[in-house]
Parts: sequence; structure tokens; C-alpha cells
Amino acid sequence: MYLYQREKTFFAKCTPELKNVVKNEIESCGCKILKDSFRGIYFTCDVEKIFILNYTSRFITRIYAPLLKFDAKNKKDIYKNVLKIKWENFIKINDTFSVRGSIVNSEIKNSHYAALCVKDGIADYFRNKYGKRPDVDKKNPDLSLNVFIEKNVATLNIDTSLDSLHKRGYKKHTSKAPIQENLAAFILNLHSYNGTEKMLDPFCGSGTFLGEALMMACNIPSGFLRKKWGFFKLPEFSQKKWEKLKSQIDGEIREIEYGKIEGSDISKEAIEKATSNLSQLPEGKKIKLSVKDFRDIKSFKGLICTNPPYGIRLSNFEKAAKTIKDFGDFLKNKCKGSTVYIYLGDRKLIKSIGLKPSFKLPLKNGGLDGRVVKIEIY
Ligand SMILES: C[S@@+](CC[C@H](N)C(=O)[O-])C[C@H]1O[C@@H](n2cnc3c(N)ncnc32)[C@H](O)[C@@H]1O
Repeated sequence: MYLYQREKTFFAKCTPELKNVVKNEIESCGCKILKDSFRGIYFTCDVEKIFILNYTSRFITRIYAPLLKFDAKNKKDIYKNVLKIKWENFIKINDTFSVRGSIVNSEIKNSHYAALCVKDGIADYFRNKYGKRPDVDKKNPDLSLNVFIEKNVATLNIDTSLDSLHKRGYKKHTSKAPIQENLAAFILNLHSYNGTEKMLDPFCGSGTFLGEALMMACNIPSGFLRKKWGFFKLPEFSQKKWEKLKSQIDGEIREIEYGKIEGSDISKEAIEKATSNLSQLPEGKKIKLSVKDFRDIKSFKGLICTNPPYGIRLSNFEKAAKTIKDFGDFLKNKCKGSTVYIYLGDRKLIKSIGLKPSFKLPLKNGGLDGRVVKIEIY
């Protein structure tokens, strides 16, 4: 028996700022939290819940199922422990695999080296037994493994998500400075958005806030457009049972009125991308999209979630500050009664809004030390 089977323990990797919402998701799924770590949350549950969490989580990055824990001070330690696993339980010779590593305070310093030791072990396991071995495919593997070494103790994990869960699958076309899907969902969740209120993103770019708002409003599982996960390779996985579970969850998807969710952007290209991206989602064609400078929006009352140009990537700071100032005036004059969440990639831009925030929350996106600012417009 492997560690996750014996102890029913799993690890949800997440962005540090999202830990509390991740804990809520884990508990709402009927799992029990065991402990926090810097990189995520340890929890316990039956393996079927891992399928559900992977399919529905809006905030988790990846879920690991631990196979084995062992002392790992050098290559030999890793290699001999990798050979203890019956790899046919997880991967066929014609499948592909990849290994990633991470290391904290250990004698082995290089995570690529640790991953390479695991890869060599698996390759030799198959070569010795069958004369052939599965190939490595770093981009689109069938099985993804993670070796985590902390204070010379290694945990070898199956990545049950296979690819980061923030990749919902609808963003085939991205704009210049997109917000990550799980972060957009996090911001919408600060408002407990459920589709009752009208929602607008006036700087919608490729449509991330709109896609996440639609998924929340219509109960669309985050993984609806994804084709495969790492849990397909667990021995507990049955295609028939999975299809039944998936169709039960999909049965909860509900409709939305046209125009309840609305997006606009000054760039025609951005709106073309958003149209193409969002139309892949159920109900996605009911999002109203238009090419528009926000200054030309007549009025709006409801929820506004948006991330205007940052100044770092898209244009220079002064230009971004002027856009933010005009946006603040637009909110004051045309959006009375609205609640606004603005994600700013540069906190120096906050004062350009000219409105008093009810809170400012640090949130990193793509290496930017940004802030979420909430403003109530009375
Ligand atoms: C940081 S990006 C938004 C990215 C978007 N959240 C996404 O995930 O793709 C800012 C967007 O603001 C748009 N923009 C810039 N000035 C604008 C204006 N005056 N009115 C409306 N949109 C504008 C840009 O075209 C760009 O798509």
C-alpha cells in the first residue's frame, strides 16, 4: 500500500494568499484539514474526493497524492526508494511521464537533480523488467510526479492534477497582462459572487474575470473544459465511475440571463479574444461584450471586478496613473450604488483612484506585487 492509500493524506498546493479559501473548499468537499504549510494544506479524505476537488476547485493549484516518504541525502537514497514502487500500477510503457522537484533545507540542493534521480530510477525499473521504458514528456505527460525534499526527508508524490488547475481551458487566446484564473476567482469570491447581481469588467482583456464570474454564477465546474488529470492514473480510478460522478456535478450547471455579466475593452483584438475564449463555456455566449473606452460607458450599478493597465507591462506609469484617475472619476460619477474590486499590479497606483478603499489586500500575480482594492460607491 502506498502512503496516500494507508493514511488517506493529500496535499493541496496553493498561492499563500489563497490558503483560507482553499481550506474552505477542502472542507466543503467533506475532507478534513490536517495542517498548514507555507506552500499549501495537508488534508485527509477518501480518494474519490480528490477527483471531485480536482474537477471543481477554483483556488487550488495542484493536489499531490504521496506514494512514499524516505530519508534522502544523496542520489542513491532516492534511486533505491524509487525502485520500491510498482510503477506498472501507475504508468504503461507507452505512456509518458515527467518529474518535478522542490527542495527546502537539505543536503541535496538542486531540485532538477532530485527530479533527474527519480526519472533515472523509473527508467531503470522498466528497462530492467521489460527491456523498454516510458518516455519523458515535460509538456503533456500522462503521469506527472513531484519529489519534495525537506530537511533530507523526501516525499514522492503523484500530481493528481497533472497540470496547474488554474488552467481552466477557456483561455486559448490571452491578452498582454492577463490575471490568473484562480486569482480572478478569489477576487470575485471576496464578494461571494453567485450571479444574482450584475457584473461588469470594463478592462476585460481576454475575459478572465468574466469567465470566472460566469463559472461561479452558473455553477460550472472549474475543470469543465479540461480533458485529463493525473488522478486518471491512480489504481482507484474507474472511467465508468468518473463519468457518472462528472455528469452528477455537471447536472448542477444553471442558466444565466443575457447581459447579466458584461465586459468591454478599448481594444478590438482583446474583445475578439474574449469572445472566442468565453464562447467555449456553457452559457458563455450570454456574456455581453463590446469594444469601448470605459469613459463612454453611460452608467452601471452592480459589481465591478477589473484589472486596469498596470503601468509596468502595458504602458508607462504616468499614462496608467492618468487612466486610473479617470476611472476613479467614472466610478464616482456614473456607478453610484456599485461595489468595486480593482486589481492593481503596482500599489503606487492606488492613490490615483481618488476614492477611499474599504480595504487593500496584497496579492501576487505573475511576479507582480499587486493589491486588490475594494471601494463602495455611495
Ligand atoms: C491588464 S489588461 C486586463 C487583462 C484582463 N483582466 C485579462 O485577464 O485578460 C488591461 C486592459 O485594459 C484595456 N484598456 C486600456 N485602456 C482602456 C480604456 N481606456 N478603456 C477600456 N479598456 C482599456 C487594455 O486593452 C487591456 O486589455
